[in-house]
Amino acid sequence: MIENNQTPPGYTLVTRPDGTQFLCINDESAVKPYRLPDPLMFSDGREVLDDFDWQHRRDQILKDFARYMYGEVPTGEYTLQLTEEEAWTPALNGLGQRKQVGITIETARGQLIAHLLLHAPAGNGPYPVFLGYNFTGNHTVHPDPAIRQAEAPWLKNYPLAPRGSSVNRWCVEQVVGAGFALGTIFYGDIDPDFDDGFQNGIHPLFYHQGQTEPKPHQWGSIAAWAFGLSRALDYFETEPLVNASQVAVIGHSRLGKTALWAGASDTRFAAVISNNSGCGGAALSKRAFGENVQVINHSFPHWFCRNFKQYDAREHALPFDQHMLLALIAPRPLYVASAVDDWWSDPRGEFLGARGASAVYEFLGEKGLPMKTFPPLDQLDLSGKLAYHIRSGGHDITPWDWEQYLAFFKRNLAD
Ligand code: GCU
Repeated sequence: MIENNQTPPGYTLVTRPDGTQFLCINDESAVKPYRLPDPLMFSDGREVLDDFDWQHRRDQILKDFARYMYGEVPTGEYTLQLTEEEAWTPALNGLGQRKQVGITIETARGQLIAHLLLHAPAGNGPYPVFLGYNFTGNHTVHPDPAIRQAEAPWLKNYPLAPRGSSVNRWCVEQVVGAGFALGTIFYGDIDPDFDDGFQNGIHPLFYHQGQTEPKPHQWGSIAAWAFGLSRALDYFETEPLVNASQVAVIGHSRLGKTALWAGASDTRFAAVISNNSGCGGAALSKRAFGENVQVINHSFPHWFCRNFKQYDAREHALPFDQHMLLALIAPRPLYVASAVDDWWSDPRGEFLGARGASAVYEFLGEKGLPMKTFPPLDQLDLSGKLAYHIRSGGHDITPWDWEQYLAFFKRNLAD
């Protein structure tokens, strides 16, 4: 137990739901000096000189993130089955149409179904798409009674969120009205978001004989969710109404971390949008501002692979930082967004993550992040392949955020 009067300046005492307390930095003055690895330098000190070198360096960085942070997807075989749960049907008062698809992932050990809800404008397409998970079930993103309720097997122990209860975060009409399709899946369809020792969800489907949990370098829940997004992209490749080469993967908070890892590990995603993704997302770990590695591993032991725990309170020892995760998305369009009252996600650390990745965009011949210094609130500059804003208000994804993402994606499609 740490007494309040012992809290050093620049720190605050954070109590997690299980009662454990952590000292977390909440003021710039407490950030200790740190060194960021250079994404354009090999680990042996050799400089990245051309595109060929970058491909090798990129592979190295990707492998490190997989091995030490998010975890590798096991190599076991699986099949994918796509079931039309609802054919294209007029929706949104004539503005668009709706389709629902079951994506079944099957291995020798069993199967799991992720239900995709897809809205599109009323024509024949193919439309560019936003794809992102929702937190509370497809039926919460819009009040439309025809949308299937979430039904993951483990959900029976939890109250179901009311229909339409997350409309503020989804803006279906806004997206479809702007000429885009919008796909969403309940993230719990792929893996439940609690520490169950990886007994529910997708992990057990990939266990070898006698295996009861992923190996220390194998996938946690974020990597599993990212895998699910890639399977939705597999489906898009078969769907004539959408343009599978124009899919922006988007996510808020833990699902922003997921969107980033999906975009980094699957280069078929044409663009990536990270909304308030914070620690383990766009924010630099080595700053340890707000949520830090020890706290995130304690609170959400299932998000990352077991190897990541060796960096608890040892961020300095990480062979990478999150600017390198963002660099893995280069030269594809990437939007990193923060909110000013979301200190826990470390807005400045998210900006510095984007700043650090910008060098790779420039190296690859693209305009990276336009602003060199931390921008004022609500200021926009979408002229680069890399965008950043810090919005007034708190930890959330708002219609205003969506407006910027639509403009950014549209602008980049036009290039
Ligand atoms: C917690 C967690 C964050 C996460 C957030 C969310 O605050 O500490 O890492 O981003 O939940 O997903 O809403």
